[in-house]
Amino acid sequence: MDSAAGIGEQAQEAKEKIAKLREELNAIILAHNYQRLEVQELADFTGDSLELARKCVGTKAEVIVFCGVRFMAETAAILNPTSTVLLSHHDAGCPLADMIDVESLRQWKRKYPQATVVAYVNTTAAIKAESDICCTSANGVKIVEAVPSEEILFVPDQNLGHYVSTKTSKRVILYPGYCSVHANVIAEEVRLARQRYPQAKVLVHPECRAEVIDLADAALSTSQMLRHAEQSNHKTFLIGTEEGILHPLRKENQEKEFHLISDKLLCADMKKTTLEILGETMEARNNVVTIPEEIRAKAKQAIDRMLEIA
Ligand code: 13P
Ligand code: SF4
Repeated sequence: MDSAAGIGEQAQEAKEKIAKLREELNAIILAHNYQRLEVQELADFTGDSLELARKCVGTKAEVIVFCGVRFMAETAAILNPTSTVLLSHHDAGCPLADMIDVESLRQWKRKYPQATVVAYVNTTAAIKAESDICCTSANGVKIVEAVPSEEILFVPDQNLGHYVSTKTSKRVILYPGYCSVHANVIAEEVRLARQRYPQAKVLVHPECRAEVIDLADAALSTSQMLRHAEQSNHKTFLIGTEEGILHPLRKENQEKEFHLISDKLLCADMKKTTLEILGETMEARNNVVTIPEEIRAKAKQAIDRMLEIA
């Protein structure tokens, strides 16, 4: 047996194991848009982090298997306290979410006591619990505009926060966090990609640097990108977000072309989940996400306030 056939057989075995465990556990499998292609393919639902967490509210599934990174599985657990949430890989974290801890946030709040704390959903449950309201990359501007305060503490992503600040007259104070995957893309890469594909529309995530966003046609969340590409008459797109998004973009738009702006757009944490690891997690019911009730309830309030507005 050659090695390609061997790998194919292993993947098939893992898929069969996962399908069997999905039945046995009465589980639902969610996969973020940045997951490996083969993980997205077998999921019950794919989408952005909040879409996925909301998808299972009221589900009859006893187990929610979240293929993504920890803060996303936590959001699913915050919104679905009666299901058991498993994170696909024990060590799949988000370095951006980990850039702020509760003590730093409390210090910051003491420094700006009048400000409303707006937390990007890419935060831990504990940070959400310390915040007034959450936002996503799709609704940040709407949330900042809707809260009564004129002063906003925006955590933890400075690039998203800066992008939001350009769309509002409010004072937005930026916490200095960033996503190293998106912040690694530089303006020169956008210029070069445009030279190569002069007809292309450039779509980037608002976690990119300001100078990259300035050169793009639109700054969009992953779900907004998917909708935009589907509705647009354009045929070629340059994409400035994690490479996993190419799979749903190409699947849903077979007559269109999608190219990454940079080969650095790869989130190592998102790629930790393989079919084999997913099967092992489900078999052992590993990586159960638990959140103390007091934190869960406060974090849910911050998410609910966002959902009332957007
Ligand atoms: P979404 O909010 O679009 O799911 O993206 C999450 C993320 O991690 C962006 O880097
Ligand atoms: Fe976190 Fe960036 Fe990875 Fe998104 S792409 S999960 S923000 S590290």
